[in-house]
Amino acid sequence: MNFIIAKDYDAMGRAAATIVAAKVLTKPNAVLGLATGSTPISLYKELVALYKKGELDFSNIKSFNLDEYVGLPPTNDQSYIYFMKDNLFDHINIKKENYHVPNGNSSNLEDEAKHYEKMIKDAGGIDIQVLGIGPNGHIGFNEPDTKFEKVTHETGLTESTIEANKRFFNKKEDVPTKAITMGIKTIMMAKSIIILATGKGKADIVKSAFFGDIVPSVPASILQLHHNVTVIVDTEAGEKIKKHI
Ligand code: F6R
Repeated sequence: MNFIIAKDYDAMGRAAATIVAAKVLTKPNAVLGLATGSTPISLYKELVALYKKGELDFSNIKSFNLDEYVGLPPTNDQSYIYFMKDNLFDHINIKKENYHVPNGNSSNLEDEAKHYEKMIKDAGGIDIQVLGIGPNGHIGFNEPDTKFEKVTHETGLTESTIEANKRFFNKKEDVPTKAITMGIKTIMMAKSIIILATGKGKADIVKSAFFGDIVPSVPASILQLHHNVTVIVDTEAGEKIKKHI
């Protein structure tokens, strides 16, 4: 694993953007795996800025998001498709038919999950997967003790994730309790991975995920076995790993 400790949140986003931009420049038809949440916003801001300066062209880029809540309409500003359009897709020249977010409103979520997995495969697999990490070590919505061999599937959210995500909703009861997510196997099949973390609230999980045991109770710990992972954290999230790298 490679580690980058950036001085703050914006520098973390810039470091991540450099890696994504290098891929977009060297492989104009690359397939990106994308995440939502507060962590990657500075990355997306930087990618939009590079696009606006004329330095990046997304016209042949494809993307697949990690996950989506079940049951939120795409017009709900907390749905992940809304988030992605708002923070990235509506500001760059990626084609509508080339970006994908799982459909959490499908009447058959099992078929939707299979179809999503097949689309990733048919696109040639993910070149760079962007990840955040939950305070409980989840990646995507693969909560602690999810089997490492799972591909895209429907899942329930744990109490700790509902608690962590309620800040985005009016009240806790509004947080959806289910989601559709790429599985850990889907994530591990990506050719390269960048995982980002910001703030002191992530310092403990960053240490246990990347310097602790590889165990299903810490889903992100499996990334220690991937051949091409870059961990990019800000000073606060990196506080407990700095002496180990
Ligand atoms: C988002 C996702 C989640 C988040 C994680 C961290 O698509 O899959 O795993 O990356 O919950 O969220 P933030 O960035 O809001 O702390």
